[in-house]
Amino acid sequence: MVKIAPSILSADFSQLGKNIKLIEKFGADFVHIDVMDGMFVPNISLGIPVIKSIRKITKLPFDVHLMIEKPDRYIKDFVDAGADIITVHYEADRHIDRTINYIKSFGKKAAIAINPGTPVCIIEELICEIDMVLIMTVNPGFGGQKYINYCSNKIKYVKQLADKYNPDLLIEVDGGINDNIIRNVVDCGANVIVAGSAIFKNGDIEQNINRLRNTLI
Ligand code: DX5
Ligand code: ZN
Repeated sequence: MVKIAPSILSADFSQLGKNIKLIEKFGADFVHIDVMDGMFVPNISLGIPVIKSIRKITKLPFDVHLMIEKPDRYIKDFVDAGADIITVHYEADRHIDRTINYIKSFGKKAAIAINPGTPVCIIEELICEIDMVLIMTVNPGFGGQKYINYCSNKIKYVKQLADKYNPDLLIEVDGGINDNIIRNVVDCGANVIVAGSAIFKNGDIEQNINRLRNTLI
């Protein structure tokens, strides 16, 4: 079963609570939360106080995507704020093995994200140590960008590694996913779909989620 993880980066922040209630009602599986520090990526988004606050209004798992330098410094804070899955970028951490073990030590799911330009083979040995791989299909930092086509090959490669080493691995794709591309990424092996603008555009969350799901039937 393919999971849908709406990225609240594209939500109307003045209506954040209401929007989260709506994605829960219309069948989202995770809340994808993009944390940006203005250093690892050229944008600043939201952080720990916001996560703490929205934790009170939903039971959906929080899929926290850390686009921050040296993420190990803040893992405990995100755990305390209510994160369920914590994703760190391979490129942002010199000691990725230590950090994923640190995340797991809190009983949380650990994930590694790789940018479009980072080869999959660099995380091959880590596949059996983690719960999820996040394949960035745009350069991180902003919602509403165009899917980078060569990333489809990377999804297929991660799927091969998962079949070999970790069949339960969650394979998440993030960036530029809409009803035109979703079928392709799922056929390549993705089983967690992040979508921001495709879900929050036009304010019709129900219709947007249904359209994505119906494309997969
Ligand atoms: C980009 C973020 C994404 C982004 C996705 O840096 O990691 O989660 O919000 O937005 P769309 O689906 O609009 O590309
Ligand atoms: Zn993201």
